[in-house]
Amino acid sequence: MADLHGCRLGFALCGSFCNAARALQAAEACVRAGAELLPIVSEHFAEFRTRFGAPEAFLEPLAAMSSGGLIRSVQEAEPIGPKNLTDALVVCPCTGNLLGKLANGITDGTVPMAVKSHLRGGKPVILCISTNDGLAASARNIGDLLNRRHYYFVPFGQDDPQRKPASLVADYARVPDTVAAAMTGYQLQPLLI
Ligand SMILES: Cc1cc2nc3c(=O)[nH]c(=O)nc-3n(C[C@H](O)[C@H](O)[C@H](O)COP(=O)(O)O)c2cc1C
Repeated sequence: MADLHGCRLGFALCGSFCNAARALQAAEACVRAGAELLPIVSEHFAEFRTRFGAPEAFLEPLAAMSSGGLIRSVQEAEPIGPKNLTDALVVCPCTGNLLGKLANGITDGTVPMAVKSHLRGGKPVILCISTNDGLAASARNIGDLLNRRHYYFVPFGQDDPQRKPASLVADYARVPDTVAAAMTGYQLQPLLI
């Protein structure tokens, strides 16, 4: 089991709503492994009511896991780097939308601001991807980020090759291990599942 004692972990959630419950379980697993959690939510994650539930159903348990409240705006995310609030930052789930922003240096929301601010200190960013266009429009952004310093990926694969041939989803159960490995500069292997 991963040991995350001493790790102040930014845990950012984007709008892949079918994975919100699994992401919460991954956050709980990181806390059980010893991490001190700083949850961060995208504007869409915090506001969209979807068939997978109301935002409060996810925001309240996240806030309860937090050591210092919930970050939900660009202004609240900005001090992460300057005030040295995080040792590692995981984006779980990471949408195709966020992949495009990170690959292209776009910082127009809470989660890209959190990543940018955290990266100022050259610390690891771990992406737990879930996107239907992983092998289509998002493929080049994934390729770009795989080749960037400080970025690590939770092992991922195709979740339904017959019905969703371009869809990629990470193995959420491996989030704590991927974070622990990234803290030592190692990309957990095998990357492809
Ligand atoms: C019910 C629902 C499920 C969605 N699931 C996904 C998903 O699994 N992956 C993804 O990349 N986008 C998904 N989206 C689209 C994103 O929510 C949308 O691109 C949004 O702009 C993402 O914003 P964010 O990255 O700032 O959270 C979904 C949208 C809805 C309404």
